[in-house]
Amino acid sequence: FDRELFRQNLIQWFKNEQRVLPWRENQDPYRVWVSEIMLQQTRVDTVIPYFNNFLLKFPTLEALAEADEQEVLKAWEGLGYYSRARNLQNAVREVVEEYQGVVPSEPEEIAKLKGVGPYTKGAILSIAYDKPIPAVDGNVMRVLSRILHVEEDIAKPSTKKLFEELITELISHEDPSSFNQGLMELGALVCTPKNPSCLLCRIQDQCRAFEQGIEEELPVKTSK
Ligand code: ADE
Repeated sequence: FDRELFRQNLIQWFKNEQRVLPWRENQDPYRVWVSEIMLQQTRVDTVIPYFNNFLLKFPTLEALAEADEQEVLKAWEGLGYYSRARNLQNAVREVVEEYQGVVPSEPEEIAKLKGVGPYTKGAILSIAYDKPIPAVDGNVMRVLSRILHVEEDIAKPSTKKLFEELITELISHEDPSSFNQGLMELGALVCTPKNPSCLLCRIQDQCRAFEQGIEEELPVKTSK
């Protein structure tokens, strides 16, 4: 497996084919953070208007820190999973108090914030700060299960750890942001759960599942 070829193809594909999304306008860590929290349990199309509205109401970390919780929850109305909004505001207040309003760029620091698990940590650090840290969600596990032919059950926590280790080896140090977002975008646009568009896929030549015709059998997931 030619890792460098994979990095280059994935990053080039992402740069050419990525969707224009409001949180991709710049690398502001606050914007990246808000978007990644919203996107955790909610689809992109649903998130877009909420994200735009949220940033109009709370344009900066300071604005969100100072807002009334009720106002924040109102802006979140319809997105569901309201603990995401409460945790986000608590964490943002902590950043103002403990870090002078600067989102920490060290993994150990950012991981202490409420609601920032391994996925959000990796997403913020790679997209906003260009750090080569994995951001593994269900889409990323599906894409890499297929490319690398991994048959581990993605419902098991140890499988997520396995993918974090694999990506730590695989991730581009030149452009970790495009690498991680490329995996997410490939999962959203090409390497979909049903009927993946393998014939259009930039990674086709390096995909072990496509080679064997088993892309639809992967990933393995036990239904609980
Ligand atoms: N899903 C999770 N994070 C995303 C992002 N940054 N862009 C698009 N879809 C995503």
